[in-house]
Amino acid sequence: MSRPDVIEKLVSLCKRRGFIFQSSEIYGGTGSVWDYGPLGVELKKNIKDAWWNAMVRSRDDIEGLDAAILMHPKVWEASGHVSGFNDPLVDCKACKARFRADQIGDAVCPRKPSKKPGEHSDCQLTEPRQFNLMFKTFMGPVEDTAAVVYLRPETAQGIFVNFLNVQQARRQKVPFGIAQIGKAFRNEITPGNFIFRTREFEQMEMQFFVDPQAPEGKTTDMEWFEYWKAQRMAWHLALGLDRDRLEFHQHTAQELAHYAKAAFDIQFDFGGTLGSQEIEGVHHRSDFDLGRHQEFSGKRLEYVDQVNNRRYIPYVVETSVGADRVTLAALVNAYAEETVEGESEGRVVLHLKPALAPIKAGIFPLTKKDGQPEMARKIMEDLRSVMPVDYDDAGSIGKRYRRQDEVGTPYCITVDTDSLQDGTVTVRDRDTLAQERVDATQLRGFLAAKLAG
Ligand code: GAP
Repeated sequence: MSRPDVIEKLVSLCKRRGFIFQSSEIYGGTGSVWDYGPLGVELKKNIKDAWWNAMVRSRDDIEGLDAAILMHPKVWEASGHVSGFNDPLVDCKACKARFRADQIGDAVCPRKPSKKPGEHSDCQLTEPRQFNLMFKTFMGPVEDTAAVVYLRPETAQGIFVNFLNVQQARRQKVPFGIAQIGKAFRNEITPGNFIFRTREFEQMEMQFFVDPQAPEGKTTDMEWFEYWKAQRMAWHLALGLDRDRLEFHQHTAQELAHYAKAAFDIQFDFGGTLGSQEIEGVHHRSDFDLGRHQEFSGKRLEYVDQVNNRRYIPYVVETSVGADRVTLAALVNAYAEETVEGESEGRVVLHLKPALAPIKAGIFPLTKKDGQPEMARKIMEDLRSVMPVDYDDAGSIGKRYRRQDEVGTPYCITVDTDSLQDGTVTVRDRDTLAQERVDATQLRGFLAAKLAG
C-alpha cells in the first residue's frame, strides 16, 4: 500500500505554525538548509532528549561527549573521507542541472519531466566525475592549502579520537560506548525532500567498543551487533513511529564498506515518492577507525585488558541516526486530516506522542470576563514551571482547539463559568476528543500521569 505524500503539506504547516523555516528566506533561501522555529526547536530537542536519555542517562556502559566540529585535517585522511567521501557527479551543460551518476536512472530531466536526464534531444551530459562532499574552510588568517580544515561530515570521528581519553577518565571497561549529538555538514549533490537530506544536519551517534575475540561465555561482537539493532528499532517504536512504517534493510555486498562486517539501515516509510528511506544506520565497523587513527597519529589506541592481560584494538558497533530525519519521520507519522463529528470543518492534527509535543497543554479562558482570564493565567503560571504550555484567548474555542491540534498539543484546558464556582476545569484530549472535569489544583498530577502514559 503506498501512503499519501504529506511532505508538501508539512512544509506549509511547519512554516505557518513556527516549526521550520527556510534558511535566509528573505534572501531567497539557502540551498537545502533549514532553521528550526519556536515549536520545531522544542520538537527536535524532545527527540534528542529521548535519545540521550535512552543511550546515556539510563545506562552505565555509555558515556556522553561533545567533540568540536573542526578537527585536525589528518583525521579525515585517516577516516578515508579525503580520498573516498565522493559521489559520482554528472552535469547537464544545457540546463545546468546536476545529478548523482548512480541515481540518474531515478532522476527526471528538468526540461521534460516525463524523460530521464540524457533522453531529451537538448541534453548534454558530462562524463561522471568524483565530487568530495566535505565542506572546506581555512583555519587562521592565511587561505592556503596548509590551512585547510573541514566541517565534519559525521560526528563519529570525534568519538574515535577521544576513545582512550573517555575510557581512562571514566575507568570504563570494554564493552562500553561513547555517544554524542552534534552538527554534521555534507555538500550533498542531490539534497531535498525538506529536512530529509540537507547540507547541515544533526546526528546522534554512538560507538560501542567490543572485544574482537570475546572469551568463552562473553557476548561476541556479532551478538552486540544484533543487540544494538534490536535496541534501536525499539527506540523508534517507543517514539511513537508506526511499526508497519519501519523496516530493516540489510546492506548488500555492493553497499557494504570494505572494512564493515555487517550493516543494517532502519528505514521509515515517508509515503509518496520518497517512500521507505534510511533514518538510522547500525554498522559493524570492525577495528578500521581506531586502527587507522593509530596508524596516522602514531599514538597507540589499544585497550589494555588488565584482567586477561591482553592489549587489543576493539571492534566498533555504531548506531548513527539523523535528528532531522527522525523529526521529519515523527511529523509525517503524526500528520492526519480528520472529520470531526458534528462539525462542518475538518481538522488537521499532529498525533505526536505527548513526550514529543512542543506544547503539552493549551490553556483557554472561555470568555475574557468574570475572572476567567485571571484563573486561566494562574493555571498557566503554575504549569509552566513543569511543562511547556500555551495561553490562548483569541477567537472561538473551536478555533483555539484547531490551532493546538495542528501543532500536536495533547491537552487543552478550558476555564469557564463553573470553574469560578467549583474550581474545576475542562480537559480535552487531542486524540479521543473526550472532555473531563478536573479540579484545577490537581492539574499538575493529572497531566503528568497522562503525559507519562
Ligand atoms: N557515522 C556513520 C554515518 O554518518 P550515514 O549513514 O552516512 O552514517 C547516518 O549517516 C545518519 O545520518 C543517516 O541515517 C541519516 O539519518 C543522517 N544523515 C546523513 N546524511 C544526511 C543529510 N544529508 N541530511 C540529513 N540527515 C542525514
